[in-house]
Amino acid sequence: MIFTDMHAHLLCGVDDGARDEATMLAMLDASYRDGVRRLCATPHFQPDFYGDNAAAREEAFARLSAYAKEHYPDLVLSLGNEVGYRTECLEDLRQGRCLMLGGRYVLLDFPADVSLFIMENAFSRFFSGGYRVILAHVERYGALLGKYRLLREWQDYGVAFQMTASYITLPLPAFERKHRKKLLSSGLIGMVASDGHDLAARPMGLSEAYGVLSRTYGQADADRLLYHTPNRVLNGESI
Ligand SMILES: [Fe+2]
Repeated sequence: MIFTDMHAHLLCGVDDGARDEATMLAMLDASYRDGVRRLCATPHFQPDFYGDNAAAREEAFARLSAYAKEHYPDLVLSLGNEVGYRTECLEDLRQGRCLMLGGRYVLLDFPADVSLFIMENAFSRFFSGGYRVILAHVERYGALLGKYRLLREWQDYGVAFQMTASYITLPLPAFERKHRKKLLSSGLIGMVASDGHDLAARPMGLSEAYGVLSRTYGQADADRLLYHTPNRVLNGESI
């Protein structure tokens, strides 16, 4: 099986992802070995926290692309951003300072303790601007625990929800196991990605999550989450 990873922090020197060049390349090696054949590098776009990392982002991506071309000619790489929400970020998108994934898809991130009001307000602003929103690591937000009807409404409104691959395979406390099961079994999750930051604590692998998903929910669903829908996003197609 081959996978598409649309959320990963393997570029070094730009955020809290790969700590050096060797780690960046080793993360790509690990991802390829695991079966990834299409990967979008998504460094954080959060100027108040990481400063202006646009030039470093482009330089690291050029070095990564050169390495991939030499070692993995069948791997397709692209560059996007994970956008940390702030009121100015729509202007940053309009000006091209921060990058979408494909077409008009924006990978959007909030602090874990964000309120529902702020999220809803942000979604409304993005949709008014003609963007399509993918909420990064939906499992992380405390305000969304148990809010499945609201998530369904947001999904109907056009928000897509991305889950982290390691969240699918990690042992969790009972209440979170229930949350994970509810999110996955209700069809709320649109895509699964690594959100890889390093080689150990937050790794790049997707195959373990694929195995769990295909055993639990069937191969068609696992393929949808780890290949078909991420590909459509990166192609800028509707999902
Ligand atoms: Fe991330």
